[in-house]
Amino acid sequence: MRAEELEGYWDHVALEARSAESERVKKWKNAARNWLAEYADKRAKDFVLSIAENVLKPARSTRVLDIGCGPGKWTRLFAERRSRVTAVDVSPKMIVLAKESISKENLTRVDFHVMSVSRLRLPDNAYDLVNCVTVLQHVLDDDEWESAVKELVRVTKPGGKILLYETAPSLAIKKRTAHLRLNTMKSYANEFRKAGARLVYWRAVDLSLPITFFGLKKYAASFNKQVYYFLAGRFSLFSPKSLSFLSKIAVALARPIDYRLGGTPLGFLSVGKIMLFEKNV
Ligand SMILES: C[S@@+](CC[C@H](N)C(=O)[O-])C[C@H]1O[C@@H](n2cnc3c(N)ncnc32)[C@H](O)[C@@H]1O
Repeated sequence: MRAEELEGYWDHVALEARSAESERVKKWKNAARNWLAEYADKRAKDFVLSIAENVLKPARSTRVLDIGCGPGKWTRLFAERRSRVTAVDVSPKMIVLAKESISKENLTRVDFHVMSVSRLRLPDNAYDLVNCVTVLQHVLDDDEWESAVKELVRVTKPGGKILLYETAPSLAIKKRTAHLRLNTMKSYANEFRKAGARLVYWRAVDLSLPITFFGLKKYAASFNKQVYYFLAGRFSLFSPKSLSFLSKIAVALARPIDYRLGGTPLGFLSVGKIMLFEKNV
């Protein structure tokens, strides 16, 4: 994808996110409560924040860079923890959403920039924590990807941390879809080592993937609402009530797997990974 196409694609996603709040969808969401989506959100928040809390200090001096901030979920959480946050996204419309999501009080702690992770117009050695949740996996061009890794390390303070959340299989699968690249854990570790940072911690995020598969299918289908409504009208399995019930059961089964086993060597089997890198001193 060329730079303009990339920006256009993510702008389109930002507009979709806003239109998803239409009355019709709200009504549908209430009927078919997606326990899985809520669970996935909470799980990501628990894992990312529990790792980030070790870096964030209560003092205002902690400087956080939120790369690919999207609608501002992490930016808001870091600003609420009294950090000074710089939020960056390639999509101007995402930046608009991110600004809207932050309260006036916390807005003073955040500065926003439209720019690509591969070309950060930011100073060297500036941030204690660089947060990058499901962003690098969307940088499809190899040169841009390598440059993005170098940029992430460049702007981090020596001894500072880079927190990545990625679709990263442990074994040698290298595949690309229209909007996603799959890099093995090993490639991340190698590329960051070359750039001057080492992997200090990792954990699995979605070890429960087989159990939550139907929920993810449903989630994916919800991006194409016409297909979703078509199915729901014809098959009782897709009725709002049964989907809500099934997703509730899936959450009950997934929780102990993700929370208890994701941090053990079994996490190796999962494709979703959080990786923490430390920049060499
Ligand atoms: C899957 S969303 C994740 C958003 C946010 N990090 C979160 O976890 O809610 C990916 C985000 O990365 C942004 N993005 C994609 N490619 C980028 C690039 N090259 N530089 C900066 N941001 C990029 C997109 O605009 C989008 O907001």
